[in-house]
This record gives sequence, structure tokens and C-alpha cells, in this order.
Amino acid sequence: MSQTPSSAQRQILVTSALPYANGSIHLGHLVEYIQTDIWVRYQKLRGHQCLYVCADDAHGTPIMLKAQEMGISPETLIANTSKEHQADFKDFHIGFDNYYSTHSEENKQFAEHIYLSLREKGHIDSKVIEQAYDPEKEMFLPDRFIRGECPKCGARDQYGDNCEVCGATYDPTELKNPVSAVSGATPVLRESEHFFVNLSHYEAYLKDWLAQDTVQSEVAHKLKEWLENGLKSWDISRDAPYFGFKIPDTEDKYFYVWLDAPIGYLASSKNLADKQGWDIGKFWNADSDAEVYHFIGKDIIYFHTLFFPAMLHGGGFRAPTGVFAHGFLTVDGLKMSKSRGTFITARHYLEHLDPSYLRYYFAAKLGSGIDDIDLNLEDFGFRVNSDLVGKVVNIASRCAGFITKRFDGKLAEQLDDPDLYQQFVAKADNIGEAYEKREYAKAMRQIMALADLANQYIDKKKPWVIAKAEGQEAELQAVCTQGLNLFRVLMGYLQPVLPTMAEAVETLFNTPVTWAPTPLLAVNINPFKPLLKRIDPKALEALMVKPADKAASKPAKAAKKAKPAKAKAPAPEGVAYIDFDTFAKTELKIAKIITANEIEGADKLLQLSLDLGEDKPRNVFAGIKSAYPDFQSLEGRLVVAVANLAPRKMRFGVSEAMVLAAGSPDKGLFLISPDQGAEVGMGVK
Ligand code: MSP
Ligand code: ZN
Repeated sequence: MSQTPSSAQRQILVTSALPYANGSIHLGHLVEYIQTDIWVRYQKLRGHQCLYVCADDAHGTPIMLKAQEMGISPETLIANTSKEHQADFKDFHIGFDNYYSTHSEENKQFAEHIYLSLREKGHIDSKVIEQAYDPEKEMFLPDRFIRGECPKCGARDQYGDNCEVCGATYDPTELKNPVSAVSGATPVLRESEHFFVNLSHYEAYLKDWLAQDTVQSEVAHKLKEWLENGLKSWDISRDAPYFGFKIPDTEDKYFYVWLDAPIGYLASSKNLADKQGWDIGKFWNADSDAEVYHFIGKDIIYFHTLFFPAMLHGGGFRAPTGVFAHGFLTVDGLKMSKSRGTFITARHYLEHLDPSYLRYYFAAKLGSGIDDIDLNLEDFGFRVNSDLVGKVVNIASRCAGFITKRFDGKLAEQLDDPDLYQQFVAKADNIGEAYEKREYAKAMRQIMALADLANQYIDKKKPWVIAKAEGQEAELQAVCTQGLNLFRVLMGYLQPVLPTMAEAVETLFNTPVTWAPTPLLAVNINPFKPLLKRIDPKALEALMVKPADKAASKPAKAAKKAKPAKAKAPAPEGVAYIDFDTFAKTELKIAKIITANEIEGADKLLQLSLDLGEDKPRNVFAGIKSAYPDFQSLEGRLVVAVANLAPRKMRFGVSEAMVLAAGSPDKGLFLISPDQGAEVGMGVK
């Protein structure tokens, strides 16, 4: 990753991946935004022009469906989410220069421009393909919206592309008994014309781009493999209904969300450029000599290192100088999980803890590779308390009080140990290089080693002893001035990680915190105010909260409740535990089948009229026809029904409950009935 020496001012544009507009920011996302923000702040601190742009990724099926589910327009959904995301980022001190949306005029223009350029150059093909279609909802189904039994292990309710139980990956057409997650209908295959980018046309260009040291070595490895296997054409169109940009010269086809998402980097740059009155060609023209970097998670490497550079090149733009991928956040060594209470949103964290803690902890763990990083709460508390509070802040709090009380806030005219100070600033290049290479863990280790030295110095000099001796005023002032100056150098090094603490330190010293500064002497400082508190173990406990507990009004109460859940044995392989509360939400009742009828055009369904002991019978569509060809015999039979299942609109009408049946693919289905004596409307325990 090429760069000019740090003496010359660099022009740098940096992006983080655009978070989807249908969910909250969580601690996993924050690995990325904190990693990027630290890098950007470092560049700014070193005097470079560095702009950090981002946006919400606002298009696609999940966003369209979520808005429908909420009964609002997608525009309202994305506007609300954007506000929420921006508040979260601000409170974590992520300093974007611009935060925009992919659902914007600029983005539409760029997406169309790139598409039309590619089409003109003959890089777009069209092909009729077969895809799963939901006949009730009348829409094509992305793999994620098809569920069924895993073709390998038979686990039920698995996604259309992979099994969470056995890990198998497959084609959605291989799923057994597939259903649409949108309507519950059985998907059918339907043909439609799609547009494809012929990526093989870009093979030579991409190989050349990769040869320029643009990606990390682990990533380069993977890419070589992909390139050697030949690049498949990329499907960039989706049929209506879809929330996105309509493809020019079509009536009902839209750009696939992943086409216009990275183009959102251009749109956000353009939006900023227009606000500030400069030309984005400076960064994005094919011959630009400015630097462009994308920070991304390892799950979206393909999009950023193959698709996007090809799109940029096709549209006449430059490709990025570097793409930096990072690993995934795990909590206590496991994937974040709602049921384990480790799926922690940014907002939930902020309700309990200071964002600086997390920024430091991630910095202390991040390297330049794509290894996952683990948040272990015990380690988190220990690291932050011992490094930030015990080492760094401690230096200042041991010295500042004497300066205020004994010297009217005035620093000495000379340092007590100029060599030691020199040793501190001499580390600037090493620490700077570590930041530049995103080796933050290395940088933090070097900074903490210096903090240890500063504390050793203070331990040796013992200002609290000097303070009691007579006639040693000058020494006391020089020692404390030394300690505070060492602290100030450290805060310069830590500014990219702890910008708000650095601001408080600027107030303390009445002067900006800078990189490897000259000593501050013979000037007045302000009274010391506590800079950072130790982490309260109770707050840490409260962090792990299960979603159901979160509803509890008092956080402290929630923390107590969460505790036993943490102690629970992990579920055996292949079992996804639910907690008792989840189970207890299901209302099971004895019901009587009043009538059972076939439905014209449905070969699996029977239409049942069920008496649950209510004023009106309920209408139910049950997929049990194959087991009961003599369906009339069901009339009068008692069964077990799920009484509080939300009504589902199906092709033939609304289904208002569900009946329970046992079954296996080879032995068939068996309705479950109570013993004699049970009555209609009885609750089932
Ligand atoms: N919208 C796409 C990105 C489009 S970029 C043109 C997307 N969004 S996301 O919300 O799912 O993720 C945003 C970023 O956060 C991605 O880089 C992703 O890798 C990262 N992370 C999401 N979960 C993460 C963890 N648990 N750990 C670390 N990074 C994670 O992908
Ligand atoms: Zn499986």
C-alpha cells in the first residue's frame, strides 16, 4: 500500500462499509467504524488532508419487507434508521466528514452512469434465469427468504443457502419442503430476464490492480484463487417489487442493492464535495494521485476487491489505493448471539459504559490482519482499568494537584529529566508507523510501555514525599512538570483512540494536544478534573442482557435477571435452546375440527374450521392433506392448536391458527390429539 513520506501532505479519502438501514448498530459494526476512525484521526493529527465518508445502505428486499411489516414507507424507515445510526456513531466519537444515504440522487446518477458505460462497452449480458417465486406475495425470493429442511441433515426451518445446524451449503432448490419466509406459501420456480456484468472482461485489469499491493496478503491469496477459477458473470438486476433504483430502459427491473451500495462511496464524496465546493475528480478521476481506502469486514471482500474495482474502472473512475479487511467480533470466543445475550447494540452499551473504554479495548486488540477479535468482558474491564486509569490517567492525577495547589497552576521553567522526555518523543516514528499500518495493538503496547516508564519515574521521585520536605519547592515543581509533560506526550499518541479524553487534556493544559510536542514550560494549567473513571463491574454485568430482559425498566434489575442465563449450560451441537419465557408465549389449546375440506388448486392443504371454545370458529389451512385422504373423518376430532399464532394471509385466505402434528419425511404426518376427557378450549401445559 503505497504512500508518500509523512512530511508531504497527503490527500486521502477513507470509507467504512455502509451499514444496512434495517438494523441497529452493534458492537460488531463498531470494530470497523472505530478501526477506521482511529486511522482517520491519526492521519488528521499528522497534518494530512483526510476525509472520512460513509452512508446508510438503504436498498434491497429486507428493507422493503421490514417497512411493509412496520406499516411504513421504506423512505420513512430509512430516514428513521439514518437518524439512529448517526446518533450512535456520534456518541462513539466516530468523526465522519460526511454521512449520507445510497437512496440519493447523486447515487442514482452514478449508478446509472456506471451501468450505461458498461452497457455501451459491451460488458452487460442478459439471460433468462429460473428463480424461486412466492406466488402469494407475488415476488421473487432471495435465498434468505426461503426456509425449509436441510437436504443434508434434515434440520427444519433452515435458510435457503446454508444450514445453521450442520453447516452445509446448497442451492435453495435443494431444500426439502421449502416455504416462503414472507407468506408461508410454497415457492415455485419462475423465469425472468436478468442482467449480468461480464466480469471475465475485467480479469486482466483486476489482476493488475491486485499486483499493486492493494490488499492484505491473506486476502490476495483468496483472490488469486477466485481469479484462477475464472470470474463468473455477476447478476446485477432484480425484478419488481424491489426498493432501489430502476434500471434505465426497463419497466420493472431494479439494480441489485450490491451494485449501488459501494457506489454510495462516490455519492457521499460528491455530496460532501458539493457542500464544500470542490471537485470529486480530485479523488475519483482515473488519473487521480490522491489516496482512496476502503475499510471493510472480511465477509464483503468479494464485493470490494472484484465487483467494485471493475465497476469503477468500467465507469471511468480510479480503483482504490487499498482495501483493508478486518475480522469479526466474537464475545467470549463465540459469535454474537441474541439468545446468549451477547448481541449488544451500540445504544445498549452506551446506557452502561463510556465509549472510550471500547475504543481503547478494540485498539488494544486490533492488528492489520483479518483475524477475529474477541471481547472478553473480564479482560475488557481489567485492561481498561489497568492501562487507561491505572497507568495513563494516574500520571496526571499524581502530578497536577501539586502544580495547582503549590504553584498557582504554573509549570516549572525546566524539565527535571529532559533525556527521559526525549525518549518519549523519540518513539513517535515507531508508534506512527504502527498506526499507519493499522497495527494498533502494537501502538498501544508501545504507549503503555512508556506509561510504565513515566510511573516508574514518579515512583522514584516520590513528589508526595518532596512536598513534605522543606526548601524543595523547585524540585517538586520540576518533577510534577516532568510528569505532566510525559503525560501530554502520551495523550498526543492516544488522541486518535481517545479523542474526547484528549479534548479534556487540552482544557487542562490550555493548548492543543499534538503529536510528539515540545515541552510545555512556565505556563499556567487549569485545575485537574478526573479524566476517566474505572469500569464498574456492575455496569459490565448489565452489558450482557437478553432481549426480553431489556424491556425491564431498570438496568440494574435487568442485569440481575441476566445472570442465571449466563450460567446455563451451552446447548448441545445442533440444538438451539429457547428460554422458558419464549416457550411460555406459545398459547396451546384443545380444539375441535368442525369441518375439514379440500381446496381446489391446493394439493397439500386442507381447510379446517376449528372450535377453540370462542364465539366464532377459526379458519385454518393445514398442510396435512397427504396424511388424511379421507379428510372428512377428521370432523369431530380433538386436536392441539396454537391459539396465538399471528394470522397469516395465504393464497386461499387467512389462516387463523395452527394445528400440531408429529411427522417425519418417510413415515408421514400424525395429528396430535388429547386423551379422552379433554375439552375444547382447555389450555395445554
Ligand atoms: N451494507 C453492507 C455493506 C455495503 S458496503 C458498500 C453490509 N452492511 S452490514 O451492516 O452488514 O455491515 C457493515 C460492516 O460491518 C461490514 O463491513 C461488516 O463486515 C461489518 N460487521 C458486521 N458485523 C460484524 C461483526 N460481528 N464483527 C466485525 N465486523 C462486522 O455488509
Ligand atoms: Zn443441515
